[in-house]
Amino acid sequence: MTATTTTTTPNPDPSGPPDATKPVGDPPLLEVRDLTVTYGIGSDAVPAVRGVDLRVEAGQKLGIAGESGCGKSTLALALLRLLPATATLSGEILLDGEDVLTMKWGRLRAVRWAGASIVFQGAMHSLNAVHRVGDQIAEPILLHSRATPAAARKRAGELLEQVGLPAARAQAYPHELSGGQRQRVMIAMALACDPRLIVADEPTTALDVMIQAQILRLIEQLVADQDVGLIMISHDLAVLADTCDRLSVMYAGRVVEEGPARQVYTDARHPYGKALSAAFPKIGDLSSRHAPRGLPGDPPDPAALPGGCTFHPRCPVALDSCATGDQELREAGGERRAACVLVDADRAQPGDEEARSTP
Ligand SMILES: Nc1ncnc2c1ncn2[C@@H]1O[C@H](COP(=O)(O)OP(=O)(O)O)[C@@H](O)[C@H]1O
Ligand code: SF4
Ligand SMILES: [Mg+2]
Repeated sequence: MTATTTTTTPNPDPSGPPDATKPVGDPPLLEVRDLTVTYGIGSDAVPAVRGVDLRVEAGQKLGIAGESGCGKSTLALALLRLLPATATLSGEILLDGEDVLTMKWGRLRAVRWAGASIVFQGAMHSLNAVHRVGDQIAEPILLHSRATPAAARKRAGELLEQVGLPAARAQAYPHELSGGQRQRVMIAMALACDPRLIVADEPTTALDVMIQAQILRLIEQLVADQDVGLIMISHDLAVLADTCDRLSVMYAGRVVEEGPARQVYTDARHPYGKALSAAFPKIGDLSSRHAPRGLPGDPPDPAALPGGCTFHPRCPVALDSCATGDQELREAGGERRAACVLVDADRAQPGDEEARSTP
């Protein structure tokens, strides 16, 4: 992986108002500025993330939504420099004010557990099949603290209890646990070194609805209890609206809409945000179950992005001018921003009459 840092103009307020309780001058827990990730080079280059700004404060839950291939996982992996060597990054990833992209290797190793940790989709693939789960939770504790093996094992048991599993399950191998239990183990591992930021990439996608709801409540509870920041990634806007404070919607590697989670879900400003929201039934809103309007067409190939607004070939309200001229995020009223030529902070928004009321 090549990391180059570019100087950018910081967005004054990429995701909402500053925390009034925070001492003036303290950096946010996470601030991402103009992050770009490209896989490969030359004619094979795939621009997977293109100029993304994000901000997360301690105790805040930011959801990142978008269809498969829009760059969500690339963004998550970039936050801890976990991308393959073929990826080139630019921009800044400031964790407590310190740039992850320019950190020395030793510092980065420490930050990967104690600063921020990632919960991936599909715990079976992320856990080592031949080691007991307790040993796998204890491993980062041993690596990143001065704990003795006995103390690390004890802590692993406590962490299992914290995520709703008996401490005795530490003796189990991954295949002896259910999918939901394995995902709880992954969350216990993510908590092992008391990170300040947790990045959860589709943490419940492989689980059934009941277990998914339990895991989401667990993550919410942990964030509230420990005052950590959370970035939750999902293609499912309904799940994110239910869990997160704020939402960023990505399309073709860019954030095209952001704002308070429930507002984005129930009354999106960007035509893509509207379509994504309509694709997922709203809990408690029976009418939405009868009208799941899927979005026609496929997301663009990042290696061959359309000119102008990248959404224009699929956009139901596109103007001729949308095929040229890129769209930057612009103010969309209140604490909201959207990258669409039709969005005006002071006017009724296109398609507002279709927006459904908050459940
Ligand atoms: N290691 C890689 N090498 C080349 N291209 C990749 C790699 N990983 C992901 N991509 C491409 O980058 C784009 C974004 O992928 P990804 O971040 O996985 O999206 P998402 O998580 O939103 O589904 C996709 O076009 C994907 O094919
Ligand atoms: S800029 Fe044009 S094509 Fe893009 S979302 Fe807005 S109306 Fe649709
Ligand atoms: Mg992904």
